[in-house]
Amino acid sequence: MDQHDNVCVCFKVSLHKLTTFMEREQPAVPSQLSQCLQAGTGCGWCVPFLCRLHAQHAAGQQPDLSVSPEDYVARRAAYKSAGKIHQGDEATDAAGWTRG
Ligand code: FES
Repeated sequence: MDQHDNVCVCFKVSLHKLTTFMEREQPAVPSQLSQCLQAGTGCGWCVPFLCRLHAQHAAGQQPDLSVSPEDYVARRAAYKSAGKIHQGDEATDAAGWTRG
């Protein structure tokens, strides 16, 4: 994924915007990434990816997702067409993720 590709497709929040937000705000928990242009508060598809980016940042790594933007968008489209919405899971619940 390129820096200018959107991680949160619903709100068009790019990897670059999220990286800059994390560098500036140093969010303690992944759910604070929702303060970056409401990332993760729409369909919920990107929440596990936001958690992964936060974990990478917290570990001192350059946040990155090893997925092609085309595959990412296609998988999200399938997620939405299946009528799924984010219900939360153990990992995201532990991260304190809440949707607005
Ligand atoms: S892709 Fe981020 S909330 Fe839908």
